[in-house]
Amino acid sequence: MTTQNYAKGLEGVIAAETKLSYIDGEKGILEYIGIPIGELAEKSTFEETVYFLWNGRLPTKPELDGFTGAIRSRYDIPAGVEALLNTIPKTAEPMHAIRTLVSALGLHDPKPNSIDLPTIRDKALSILAQTPTLLAYFHQHRQGKPFTRPDKSLGLSENFLYMLNGKRPTPAMTKALDVCMILHTDHGLNNSTFTTRVIISTESDIYSAITGAIGSLRGPLHGGANEGVMRMLNAIPSVAASEAFIQEKLAKKDKIPGFGHRVYKAYDPRATHLKVLAKQLAHDTGHTDLYEKSTAIEAVMNREKAAKGIYPNVDFYSATTYYCIGLPLDLFTPMFVIGRVGGWSAHALEQLAHNRLYRPDVDYTGPHGVAYTPIEKR
Ligand code: ACO
Repeated sequence: MTTQNYAKGLEGVIAAETKLSYIDGEKGILEYIGIPIGELAEKSTFEETVYFLWNGRLPTKPELDGFTGAIRSRYDIPAGVEALLNTIPKTAEPMHAIRTLVSALGLHDPKPNSIDLPTIRDKALSILAQTPTLLAYFHQHRQGKPFTRPDKSLGLSENFLYMLNGKRPTPAMTKALDVCMILHTDHGLNNSTFTTRVIISTESDIYSAITGAIGSLRGPLHGGANEGVMRMLNAIPSVAASEAFIQEKLAKKDKIPGFGHRVYKAYDPRATHLKVLAKQLAHDTGHTDLYEKSTAIEAVMNREKAAKGIYPNVDFYSATTYYCIGLPLDLFTPMFVIGRVGGWSAHALEQLAHNRLYRPDVDYTGPHGVAYTPIEKR
């Protein structure tokens, strides 16, 4: 092994083959199985997009009805997981709670370790259906409120907002959240998807793989950035103060959350759609200041950093979008989990279909032949 093969952060290393999503980072293109992401955001639903990724083709009407019906029939969580949820400290961060609760779903599965493809698909369907319930219940638990039980006549996005707030969302809010879920479903070999594939490649179980992926997604360099964006928007006192705020951060060499990407050196196509959505929602909900602060930040970053290929990523405008949908700040990253469960599961299925254990090498840079020093001589 020589250092020639070493790529820090695995930049540029091809570690898997996939037929799921295609990214052209120079041109700012994202497709799911060949369909441009914008087209899916406009015309599809989250459930249909997940079916598409899990099956490699769009469903017929009866197939889609069957799939959405199966998801809805599984919204309820096991009683034992609900009991555990009630013991979680109310101060816990939702990302820690959801990680623990998804893991706990495996405890109530009589055969958690089965990894044949139809069984994995079946388990993934339950995780997909129950993650929103776990999150909504945890949010109510920490507020000391009774749980709003799932309404199985509603689609996944609408039912989540219904459970979270105890009342039916407007069609506009439902559509906005559903578009966010579609945009977040899959994205090449991002860190959390790689985590999923690494874990499942040991022939471990799907609960372990998704639990690990949630841990990866939480980091501020990955899915946690959308909360960082919101904290930044809150810290900027006015639209006029945005320029000075960003310049001060850049002078200190701080990274601006919601900007930059390992793969995109052009505008992230998901951000293009979220920007339109954020503008509309900010207008409709009276939060235009958030949108205007965002565009002011983008203008500074464009001047200072676009030449280096640093543009808004998916997290930048999703912060304003989620805020206007009425979600509390610390649920922003968990929203990413709900959407990405679809993609993680698709990758687990793809990995297992042609599995080979992930086991890369390291370049050892430490000493050799060192004598052992007895403890009394150290
Ligand atoms: N603000 C200012 N400068 C930046 C930013 C940023 N957001 N992102 C990258 N840069 C600069 C770095 O300072 C570095 O500059 P240098 O060459 O002068 O040292 C250069 O661009 C390369 O940055 P790296 O961090 O080495 O790039 P890498 O590919 O490792 O990281 C990452 C990509 C982690 C996304 C980075 O851009 C970042 O930290 N962004 C902010 C956090 C964020 O928004 N994460 C969400 C990403 S999308 C997702 O995961 C869902």
